[in-house]
Amino acid sequence: MERFATFALVAGILFFAFGTFWQAVAPWLTLRGIPMKSMDEVAREVPPEFYMLANQYPEEFKKYFGEPNERSFKEALELGKKVYIAEACWHCHTQQVRPVSNEEFRFGRVSYPSEYANAMQLPQLLGTRRVGPDLMRESGRHSNDWHMAHFKNPPAVTPGSVMPSYPWFFDEKGRPNKKGLAMVAYMQWLGSWERKPMYALKGGE
Ligand code: HEC
Repeated sequence: MERFATFALVAGILFFAFGTFWQAVAPWLTLRGIPMKSMDEVAREVPPEFYMLANQYPEEFKKYFGEPNERSFKEALELGKKVYIAEACWHCHTQQVRPVSNEEFRFGRVSYPSEYANAMQLPQLLGTRRVGPDLMRESGRHSNDWHMAHFKNPPAVTPGSVMPSYPWFFDEKGRPNKKGLAMVAYMQWLGSWERKPMYALKGGE
């Protein structure tokens, strides 16, 4: 009995040491070289959909965000993420394309560490449940108007959808309010860094 207890103790200590190495030391060794981007650096890359929002909802955009630029984009992103957390979107959506089950064919490039090394990913929202699709490559997948219609009434654009509607993203006239605009800006940001070659349409490219 005593020998068994000693064996269990030693095994426990070894497993603990292995766990600490695998879950804490190894990730730290892998990730420590990746620079952390600040919110200002993140907001420097404004996707075209943000300018489109300002064109499509000019009155509302002006009222809540002013002009579409890096400053207003930063504000919209920060609010969008806050609302995403508050509304528990993460309860049904992940933000991580996993390297299994051919996920890259459905969602796009498998997620990699450096795309989480920025202030927008603090805290990261990898999520665990997938009642709805992964959102890490959402940017550009749908138009701004599609998102507005979807938040207002998901089954209107995706028949049979079980996603709840978010009427509080809209004002009494049915136009998007600050939360609605911020949420769509956030959706169009998620994965925008992976789309760059598509919209870098300057001469010669
Ligand atoms: C009860 C679970 C649930 C919750 C909560 C939820 N969703 Fe969904 N979502 C779904 C399902 C299911 C779909 C797929 C059907 C559809 O398109 O509506 C979906 C689809 C989507 C899509 C379209 C994805 C694509 O590429 O087609 C977006 C964007 C989205 N959700 C964003 C959100 C946001 C933002 C929130 C929080 C404000 C949220 N969802 C909350 C279940 C949920």
